[in-house]
Parts: sequence; C-alpha cells; structure tokens
Amino acid sequence: MKRLIAILALLFAAPLLFADDLSGIWVSSTKQPDGHTSQMVLALQQNGNQLTGKIEHPWGRLNIKESKVDGNHFSVTAITNEGHTYVCEGALEADKLVFAVRDPNAKPYNVVAARAKSDPFTVANVITPPAIRDLPPNGLAKTPPMGWNSWNLFAERIDDKIVREMADAMVSSGLRDAGYIYLNIDDTWEGDRDAHGVIHSNNKFPDMKALADYVHSKGLKFGIYSGPGPYTCAGYEGSYAHEAQDAKTYAGWGVDYLKYDWCSASNLYPDSAMRAVYQKMADALRATNRPIVYSLCQYGREDVWKWGAEVGGNLWRTTGDINDTYKRMMEIVDTQSAIAQWAGPGHWNDPDMLEVGNGGMTTDEYRTHMSLWAMFGAPLLAGNDVRKMSADTRSILLNKDVIAIDQDPLGKQGQLAFKRGDVDYWKRPLSGGGVAIAAVNRASTPASVKIPWKDLGIEPISAFKDVWNSKLITIPSDPAFAIPPHGVVLLRTELVH
Ligand code: GLA
Repeated sequence: MKRLIAILALLFAAPLLFADDLSGIWVSSTKQPDGHTSQMVLALQQNGNQLTGKIEHPWGRLNIKESKVDGNHFSVTAITNEGHTYVCEGALEADKLVFAVRDPNAKPYNVVAARAKSDPFTVANVITPPAIRDLPPNGLAKTPPMGWNSWNLFAERIDDKIVREMADAMVSSGLRDAGYIYLNIDDTWEGDRDAHGVIHSNNKFPDMKALADYVHSKGLKFGIYSGPGPYTCAGYEGSYAHEAQDAKTYAGWGVDYLKYDWCSASNLYPDSAMRAVYQKMADALRATNRPIVYSLCQYGREDVWKWGAEVGGNLWRTTGDINDTYKRMMEIVDTQSAIAQWAGPGHWNDPDMLEVGNGGMTTDEYRTHMSLWAMFGAPLLAGNDVRKMSADTRSILLNKDVIAIDQDPLGKQGQLAFKRGDVDYWKRPLSGGGVAIAAVNRASTPASVKIPWKDLGIEPISAFKDVWNSKLITIPSDPAFAIPPHGVVLLRTELVH
C-alpha cells in the first residue's frame, strides 16, 4: 500500500519535477482579416529554472534579462530600446506555450505559440548595404511637409474607403488649402509579393493606383509606408531585398512620399549600418525619376540628424513614437532643442506626427503641442479624424499664423531659451528678422507671466502679435499673460512702420 501511495505521489508530482524543457523556437502566427499573418517568436534556452534567449517581433528583438520557470509556468522579462519593461508570462499547456504579454507600447494581449523548426525572423546571408556616399539634395520639402497620416488614429484599421473620405475631408475642411497636402497611408496596406517579387496591396486596398489617382484628383499628394527589413513594424511585408522593385512600384502608383521605418531591419543589421541601408532606398527612389519625399523613421538612433540629409532624407524621426498624452508629447519636446542645428530647408527634424484632436489631451495641451511643433519647424502631419473635427481642433490645425511660423522659409529650428519657474521660453528666429516666442506653462496650475523680452535678446521691439488670440500688441503696452495649466502663449514680433 505504502509503495502504491509513493508511486501515485510521484505520478502527480512528475509534471512539476520533470516539466518539459522550454528550450526551442516558439512561434505564434495569427491570420488577420486583411489576409496578412502576424507573428511573434520566443527563442528560448532553458537552464534549470532560468530562461535565456530572445523575444522577437517584426519591430525587433529583445534580449531576455530576467526569467523564472516554476513547473510548467514561466515568465521572461526584457527591456525595450526606450528602457521600458516588457514581460511574457504563462505556461506550457499540452504542446503550446500560452502566455500574456505586457508590452509598454500596447494593450495587454494573449499569445498561443507552437514549437517551430526555424525562426521566421532570421534571414540567412544578409545583403551587405552599399558603400556610403553623400547624396545631393533632392530639391523637395523646402518647408516642412504638411499633411495627414493614418497611423495615430487608425493604425491597422485604415482602408481604401477611409483614405478616400479623408481626401474629401481634407478639401472640405480647408486643411488642403491651409497647406496640408500630403495624404499618407502608414503601415498595414501591404499584401503579398507575386511570383516576380512585385508587392501588391492587401484586401483593404483593392487598387492602389486608382486610390492614388483619386487623391491626386483632389489636389493632394499621396504618401505610403515601408521599411528596409523583411517586415514592417506591424508585421507586414517590408522592402528588404526588393528596394528598387518597390520604388518602381510606388512611382507607378503615383506615390509622392515614402516613410521608411527601420523595425525588423534591426534583426538583420546593427544600428551602425542604418546610414547605408537608408541610402539604398534613397538611390532606388531617385532612380524612378519621380519626386518622392523621403521620410526616415528609425526613432532618432545613431544621431540620424548628423547624416539624414546626406542619405537623401527630407525628414527623420528624432525619437520613439508619440502617443496622445501630454506627458509623452513633452518628453519628446524636451529632446528637440539640442538637435536644432541639424534642421533646415529640405531636411527636417521630425518629432513625430500630431495628435491634435485625438482626445487624449486638453485643448490647451493640444495648443501647446501645435505651438511647439511650429516653433521647431516640424513636419505637420495631422493624425486625427478629419471627417469630424471639433471647432477647437479646427482652430488649432488651421491657425494661419501658427502654420506660417512652422513654414517660415528661413527654416531655422527654434530652441529653448531658458526655463523660469514652471515656464519654458522657446525662441525661433524667422525670416525678415522676426522672432517667435512660445512660453509654455508646465505646471498644473495657471501662471501669469510678463515676457522677459530683454533676457530673450529681443529689444527694442515695437509690436508683437499674440498668435492664438490674434491680437496685435504695441509697445509700450506690455501686458502680463495668464497661461493655463500645460498651456502656451505664442507670440511673434511684428515689424510696425
Ligand atoms: C513605428 C513608427 C510609427 C508607425 C508604426 C507602424 O512604430 O514609429 O510611426 O509607423 O511603426 O507600424
């Protein structure tokens, strides 16, 4: 009897004592309604109750930093490029890994992964990028590009119908006539390649050429998205090994703007190869002889501002992604002053697309967002639903004086002059000797300030315009401004004769 009990106890404890080794390649593949398959990989090596290895997405690989195995349960933790914690936690159930993902850039989600023989994110014989050389300017984007991009609001929900509606709305809302002329489709339009390697759009976009024609017929320009890796950030087909072919396809469709996003290229190349890899697509675009604005998106790595223009970039992202919060928007703001010298006509620092009108910030915060983007001379790519804009959103995106500051032909990026208490003072030189000033109240209580003209090096001055209130103020009247919490006062000097 005793022996029977011992055997039974061993049988019950066996799964705990001799749990399966989790070592191996675990792949989760999910077929999406648009026809594309999204994938995630855990490449694991188990040693006792520890796991090493990588968590892999189309947007890159993360090294596992901490782990725990307890019977069939496991957790692995990694740190993202931005320094945030990324966790997978779950268990081996039958022959599947079933786990929850806590990704700092996404809502929590669940994954089921099966063992695989090979890693779909590993490419054999990676193509060596070309030798570096300086490309002359392509003559485009003399002022920062303006338009609309699908990502911030729609992400993977963008389709042909919405793009057409956006085109109509960009015209009827006055955005086009205010200068927002690029209508850019971001990630998730990509379908499969045919037998000749030609990329086709997926079933959300039945006919790209017809869509581009429609956008053009509205007096707008048409933008698209890809990346130098085999996959885009959302896991769709990238341009790796098909650069020249894709550039030709885009030109054939009538593409006027390409955003080229690093993501899975990080599984192939070290960051030090970025310059050459970006140059490769610039060459491919130029070979089409179609003027195509080239937007580099590699999150400000490798000091891209120092070489972005030389690889033919008209703009380059300076940071990781924006989101629709005041906190994130200001984190981005705080990194822009130091790199101001690298922006200029034809080649711009890009602090990411606008969130104005998406609902996550107050109207005052959105005014601060728009004001600072104008102070930077940043690309202005609206990211809201242009079909239904509130009066506040309209007034922010369509303010002619703010747009004029952004589009100032001198093209010199504004910088933080100084901080005084909770107020940041930004200064931007404008063509014709003018100056724009933005005073941003970072406090969550109202501030009252007199503009320190002298300390800002702007005296004598005869008049200035309170831009958001559209009010001309003549010196010696020099009022104190009440700035709401997280709000802004935006001024520009006026030449009064
Ligand atoms: C990256 C980019 C974003 C957007 C997404 C699309 O995160 O930085 O701007 O293009 O990819 O997947």
